[in-house]
Amino acid sequence: KRSIIWVCVSCSAALPSVLLQAPRLPKAGETIHGYKFFIGFGGKGANQCVQAARMGAKTAMVCQVGKDFFGDNYIQNFKKNGVSIAFAKQTEKAATGAASIIVNDTGENAIVIVAGANMLLGQQELQHAQSAISRAKVLICQLEINPDASLHALRMAKENHVKTIFNPAPAIVDLHSDFYKASDIFCCNESEAELLTGMPVSSVEDASRVGLDLLQKGCGSVIVSMGPQGCVVCQSINVAPKLVPTITVTAVDTTGAGDSFIGALAFYVAHYPTMQLEEMARRANLVAAVSVQNVGTQTSFPFRKDLPAELF
Ligand code: RIB
Ligand code: NA
Repeated sequence: KRSIIWVCVSCSAALPSVLLQAPRLPKAGETIHGYKFFIGFGGKGANQCVQAARMGAKTAMVCQVGKDFFGDNYIQNFKKNGVSIAFAKQTEKAATGAASIIVNDTGENAIVIVAGANMLLGQQELQHAQSAISRAKVLICQLEINPDASLHALRMAKENHVKTIFNPAPAIVDLHSDFYKASDIFCCNESEAELLTGMPVSSVEDASRVGLDLLQKGCGSVIVSMGPQGCVVCQSINVAPKLVPTITVTAVDTTGAGDSFIGALAFYVAHYPTMQLEEMARRANLVAAVSVQNVGTQTSFPFRKDLPAELF
């Protein structure tokens, strides 16, 4: 029996998220008044998968949630977004993971995640998803599951010539060197780049420098995202890193903007394989710019029908 071929597979975390909007982020020991509260669907990999699906990619999520209320809800959310749940497992061994997000008036955020069931995603589950991973056009991974599982998935993809996008988030200082070699596109933000290289990143020049540093570790290409400034793209085929600027918008909530960017990027990699990476990044910047103008993560991610036709 021939199984379905998914264009984009995400081996990553699904995290229901509690979102609080407050004028500013509280300091340690402090209590402050906020003005809005809601529960949404998050987790970097799930967000990226949903954004790719909303742009028209056929996606599958390889993940673990608990056999509980949040897990049931999240499975429904995948179905609603057209993401395949053939490899989304509900386990009795752990509770569904969760994220707590506080967003301030300038749209910045602070996040605490508890991975929960996501940490139980291991080699056995990846083996079960082998047919999906090995035949996809692109695989996306992050670090909200066990890093060994992420690396294993990336290697499975590489062995089968599947394009890999790796988002080292949340970043860890002692990232295994094989992650770089297993990444066709290594995509991180400024703070993640800082943590990984030990070099400060506060300007485009800095981002270019760390981009080249990361590239030397063995990645195919590196994208360092810089929020309102856009992103810096470094490729081994080009001599100089290139700033890909974005449009200026009024940010309401930047949570998940990086995920919107990566989901869109995955869509372009899968559907426009001959497009220049800089052009993909330029378009993904514009998709992410839509997301920051609305509250929440997935709640703010645009659908294909909401985006200008020239992005397709
Ligand atoms: O990148 C934003 C995401 O990080 C949120 O959705 C939250 O769940 C955390 O995983
Ligand atoms: Na948003």
